Amino acid sequence: MSTYETMAFHLETERLILRPWAESDAAEFSALLSERGDETYTVEHGRERIAKLLYATEITGIALLPIQRRAEGDFIGYCGLVIGRSTLEEPEIAYELFRHAHGRGYATEAARAVVGAAGATGRKRLWSTVGTWNTPSLRVLEKLGFEQDRVSMEGTKEVAWLTRSLP
Ligand SMILES: CC(C)(COP(=O)(O)OP(=O)(O)OC[C@H]1O[C@@H](n2cnc3c(N)ncnc32)[C@H](O)[C@@H]1OP(=O)(O)O)[C@@H](O)C(=O)NCCC(=O)NCCS
Repeated sequence: MSTYETMAFHLETERLILRPWAESDAAEFSALLSERGDETYTVEHGRERIAKLLYATEITGIALLPIQRRAEGDFIGYCGLVIGRSTLEEPEIAYELFRHAHGRGYATEAARAVVGAAGATGRKRLWSTVGTWNTPSLRVLEKLGFEQDRVSMEGTKEVAWLTRSLP
């Protein structure tokens, strides 16, 4: 069992709300995953992925949360904490937004709230692992005060490991 507080599942920023998943997010979630371009996902797949995320959160006390714009009320992506390549003690921050919502500072705004929520659980350090080609994501992390620790190879893929301590 983790000795950390459960992460807050409702976070609010100036323009965004992060909140728990609802079954009605399935269509938008699968559309977001489909934007990656490898595959077109069904709504049923979205539903299964949401169920898996909710189950993981039950066990770990950390979560990826849907991001909703306050003014428009629409789902634009997700941000949160995952074990990923790291550990439950020092989890990874992760985010993904619809392309139409890129370039307006939303990822940075959501991730800043998640960093705060991670600190409130009592954790002392966060990680992020990012393809070294992913300039936008690396820039978000830089703005949040993450620093590069190392680069690892996964086959031919270079993965940057970034970290920041929590107050
Ligand atoms: C990474 C991602 C979430 C960023 O979302 P976003 O809301 O556009 O991010 P922000 O607007 O908060 O910040 C992006 C920063 O990258 C910069 N940027 C974007 N594209 C860039 C490029 N090609 N070269 C240099 N900088 C770039 C932006 O200018 C901005 O920095 P600035 O505030 O200094 O101008 C979004 O691109 C995404 O969903 N990508 C696909 C999923 C993904 O890669 N997730 C991360 C996996 S580790």
